[in-house]
Amino acid sequence: MNPNPSSRRAMLKSAALAGAASSGLLLPEWALAQTGKIRVGLMLPYSGAFAPLGVAIENGVRMAINEQGGKLGGREIEWFKVDDESDPSKGVENASKLVQRDKVDVLIGTVHSGVQMGIQKVARDSGVLTLIPNAGVHAATRALCAPNVFRTSFSNSQPTLALGQAMVKRGHKKAVWITWKYAAGDEAFEGFKESYTQAGGTIVKELGLPFPNVEFQALLTEIAALKPDAVACFFAGPSGAKFMKDFAAAGLKDKIALYGSGFLTEGVLEAAGPAADGVITTLHYSDSLDTPRNKAFRLAYAKTFRAQPDVYAVQGYDTGLLLAQGMKAVNGDVNAKPALYKALEAAVIDSPRGKWTMSKSHNPVQDIYLRVAEKGENKVIGVAAKALSDPGTGCRMG
Ligand code: PHB
Repeated sequence: MNPNPSSRRAMLKSAALAGAASSGLLLPEWALAQTGKIRVGLMLPYSGAFAPLGVAIENGVRMAINEQGGKLGGREIEWFKVDDESDPSKGVENASKLVQRDKVDVLIGTVHSGVQMGIQKVARDSGVLTLIPNAGVHAATRALCAPNVFRTSFSNSQPTLALGQAMVKRGHKKAVWITWKYAAGDEAFEGFKESYTQAGGTIVKELGLPFPNVEFQALLTEIAALKPDAVACFFAGPSGAKFMKDFAAAGLKDKIALYGSGFLTEGVLEAAGPAADGVITTLHYSDSLDTPRNKAFRLAYAKTFRAQPDVYAVQGYDTGLLLAQGMKAVNGDVNAKPALYKALEAAVIDSPRGKWTMSKSHNPVQDIYLRVAEKGENKVIGVAAKALSDPGTGCRMG
């Protein structure tokens, strides 16, 4: 008898299957669930302001799983995809399509914090294993945390918790904050406010515009009139490139230092051109990380996808690595939930960003890098925070 309980379970199930097949019986659902393909649902933006982010995440997920032979815990994969359009009003409906209609075993999604709240509801109601490859909304790993939800990216305040101090160190003590007004921008502000004011900085004004609006002109005029030492911001995707270009075109680049949560310069350095040069940001990844792991990842990604990877590709990749590790631990038995969650909680992800682990509330414990954009690259100029963990405030598992 095989002493390993999960492979013993697998043997019993295959024996049951062989019996069912030879006697012409219909297979029971539990047998199908264990031996058929594993159903993986991707709920990501494939249109709208965050479309390139969704594509990079999917590329990363597939790349990690392909490196493991294209299977999870020995099982083939069937993929299901939904374009969530970064539209929070369709969040629950879109997540339900994957969970109720497609009966996915794992849901991977998404980018936008508002849409994530819809996924979180469906994840909590259904108990389906859910991996968050980007959206940083605090509630997902704080008050609304759940045993079946794991984040492989960041919490919204993590990158900016390291930003304020770096600004004050550079002598920029009077700042304007500007962002899209929704959870990601508001929670990024929480981190910024804490680190900037603690370091002795003063926030002279908070500016905002609704997502995904990119009419920055009136706000840039206001910034020019306020004459702060620096501007700090949260924007992401191609809109970030537009913000940097508009900032330069408004004549502010040589007068006011521009800082950001590092998403500002991810995947858009080419599009932003010289407008990005000198922009200082904090993030849990940098393309220029000089490690064999990052270099090998970047080379392989570029070869496969004919594109340069960014933080979103890395987060997708790490999602694939985490899922592969979990499935391996339970030999592909997604219903072995306690063992699966234990494996995911204990995982050490050997990421291109550097090794990271899961916090108790299922959010990465990770280093935050200080970077400066220079000639198409985010150059690392320091580690802004070491092994930074989200506090997980209000999280009660179970
Ligand atoms: C979010 O909505 O949580 C979000 C979106 C894009 C980012 C970061 C966070 O780059």
